Amino acid sequence: MCGIFAYLNYLTPKSRLEVLDLLVTGLKRLEYRGYDSTGVAIDSPDSKNIVMVKRTGKVKVLEDAILEHFSGGEYSEPVMTHIGIAHTRWATHGVPCERNSHPHRSDEGNGFVVVHNGIITNYNDVKTFLAKRGYEFESDTDTEVFAKLVHHLWKTHPTYSFRELVEQAILQVEGAFAIAVKSKHFPGECVASRRSSPLLVGIKTKTRLATDHIPILYGKVLPRSDSTSEFMPLEEKEVEYFFASDASAVIEHTNRVIYLEDDDVAAVRDGTLSIHRLKKSLDDPHAREITTLKMEIQQIMKGNYDYFMQKEIFEQPDSVVNTMRGRVRFDGNAIVLGGIKDYIPEIKRCRRLMLIGCGTSYHSAVATRQLLEELTELPVMVELASDFLDRNTPIFRDDVCFFISQSGETADTLMALRYCKQRGALIVGITNTVGSSICRESHCGVHINAGPEIGVASTKAYTSQFISLVMFALVMSEDRLSLQQRRLEILQALSNLADQIREVLKLDSKVQELAKDLYQHKSLLIMGRGYNFATCLEGALKVKELTYMHSEGIMAGELKHGPLALVDGSMPVLMIVLRDPVYVKCMNALQQVTSRKGCPVIICEEGDEETKAFSSRHLEIPRTVDCLQGILTVIPMQLLSYHIAVLRGCDVDCPRNLAKSVTVE
Ligand code: F6R
Repeated sequence: MCGIFAYLNYLTPKSRLEVLDLLVTGLKRLEYRGYDSTGVAIDSPDSKNIVMVKRTGKVKVLEDAILEHFSGGEYSEPVMTHIGIAHTRWATHGVPCERNSHPHRSDEGNGFVVVHNGIITNYNDVKTFLAKRGYEFESDTDTEVFAKLVHHLWKTHPTYSFRELVEQAILQVEGAFAIAVKSKHFPGECVASRRSSPLLVGIKTKTRLATDHIPILYGKVLPRSDSTSEFMPLEEKEVEYFFASDASAVIEHTNRVIYLEDDDVAAVRDGTLSIHRLKKSLDDPHAREITTLKMEIQQIMKGNYDYFMQKEIFEQPDSVVNTMRGRVRFDGNAIVLGGIKDYIPEIKRCRRLMLIGCGTSYHSAVATRQLLEELTELPVMVELASDFLDRNTPIFRDDVCFFISQSGETADTLMALRYCKQRGALIVGITNTVGSSICRESHCGVHINAGPEIGVASTKAYTSQFISLVMFALVMSEDRLSLQQRRLEILQALSNLADQIREVLKLDSKVQELAKDLYQHKSLLIMGRGYNFATCLEGALKVKELTYMHSEGIMAGELKHGPLALVDGSMPVLMIVLRDPVYVKCMNALQQVTSRKGCPVIICEEGDEETKAFSSRHLEIPRTVDCLQGILTVIPMQLLSYHIAVLRGCDVDCPRNLAKSVTVE
């Protein structure tokens, strides 16, 4: 949902071209967040002005424009201190075009320029206020009001520091934002802040930092001439700072980052970073910790694959093992989930479990609900975060609410989390992003450890969310004698899972052939039931988002209640029919389809001749325990949507109109 990236070098000589290169590389890493238009702002060669370049389209278009625009030798001169800000957009207010691209400016002289991720909900009020004071607007965005508001405050409070101007502006705006601001009136300074949208600061110094903490300072209005004593020097003279929407954009420069909290204002002046808050509350910590990222640069590169999504599908034999690593002891049949173990007694006493998420994350809840009901013997509700909030769902103090989110930043899921937390429920986060808002706001949780997922369509995060919830179910049933045989069966299946996923991935070329049969069709129906219904929903979502074909996941039991009317000899149908407790019912559905001249593609178990006899097109997957089948059946669906998308010429990693991290409601 928009990516922001800013770079500041202090006493570390860099030419403007080098700065631009850094900004473009940062944007490429953040492109999955939004890719309909881009822009950068840097200082002009005489450092008296700010130059901006904006383009509609992906970062590559901006990169080409930069090469054209900044060819002069003056851009190759090293500068000791410089700030550049950059943005890749996912449009919310105003169509994607250069005029609406960020950075947005305060005035024709580019006094203040801003990049923003989020939505300023009261922008109309602020706009009216500023319009009455003579400001003219040149874009349709909510962001522009912020740049102009800072300018207005600068005019009316000439003694305010840059940080104070931004703080005062933040006090006036409502909604969600992560922003970075640059100003020609405050050369060498950068101010950034966040509220409900992610933002971190990467710090790069030549030697190890003298401190692991940046103290938090509380705002008071200081004259601009005030000394820098309010800032916490890092005892390093040469320093580089990176402000970014997520860690993938900074990891190639530094692994030392500070995750900003809501309403933190981070300011760099004279090369030193300070973090301010306007109001002090009792539970505020005294400092923000500098965290060392565990991520490796290779994890965010495509390697030999054509697309990130393809790489991520093929990483699943390893990512599922990483989810279980250090948690499942196959020799002792024991499972420890360090992030929630202290809360297990409380969870066991709860009234019900609620699993809440959006899109693919929601599907992982659908996939595991039945097992959770079986092994926890508790009522389990599965909720779409947006619908849950619309309904003002009743929540009780003895509810345990799971928030499942790959990014940990999805606005609907985060809002639902806050809603449940306010009502006293125990909050458990299931996320893939360390330091994300959902991680930080949960009482306890499980990191799924799938590694960075860059392709907009979620793949390996789904299978790892699935396994995390299965592990939780196993923990909850540890002391239930009657369930021990079932637990052993599942643990045994988990130990074989990586190899079985490798087997399924060998179907790739067969799936590609199948894609050739299907890619010119308009629609694809995907049917199944029981443990495989979630695969139908998830498969249909993948097909829709990647190929722009219509696709529907159909609960096979519902077929005769309506969807059967769609079936004829020409409608593409895919059916999942495995040897599990609902096999006979699935076979009924299969017969209903074939007797309407339907010729389904069947996903069935290896060597199941009886089922295969119903169609000439089938994909055979290895046998596993019923509750884990969904992991093996979803992989052919991921591959199928990938291959159809390639054949249809779609942009696999950046599907149209979508973005990976949906930080707006
Ligand atoms: C689909 C997809 C989305 C996300 C959804 C929630 O491939 O990726 O449906 O699953 O936007 O995102 P997270 O899991 O980050 O909360």
